Amino acid sequence: MNTWIRQAHRWLSIVFTVTVIANFIVLGLNERPLWIVYAPLLPLFLLLFSGLYMFALPYAAQWRGRRRADART
Ligand code: HEM
Repeated sequence: MNTWIRQAHRWLSIVFTVTVIANFIVLGLNERPLWIVYAPLLPLFLLLFSGLYMFALPYAAQWRGRRRADART
């Protein structure tokens, strides 16, 4: 599950980067397709949640570890 989230985060970061580059390309055009302008938002949103999940992992492990140690004493 953790490696799955990490892989998803890694690939989402590539998708996000591509959509941002597409935005810079589209800046040079007279007409900017709205779907390209908003395209980075979905991967960024998913990056936020997978990133926050990974951020919380070490703290969750610490918390679980301490609780198990408490039960032993
Ligand atoms: C939006 C909020 C984001 C949060 C909260 C977040 C958080 C995190 C966290 C906690 C990690 C794991 C660090 C560790 O090893 O302990 C990580 C890894 C990473 N993040 Fe993000 N991130 C966010 C957005 C992004 C964006 C926008 C990009 C790039 C476009 C990105 C690219 C990466 C990459 C490449 C890794 C390494 C993945 C791996 O080790 O396989 N992240 N991020």
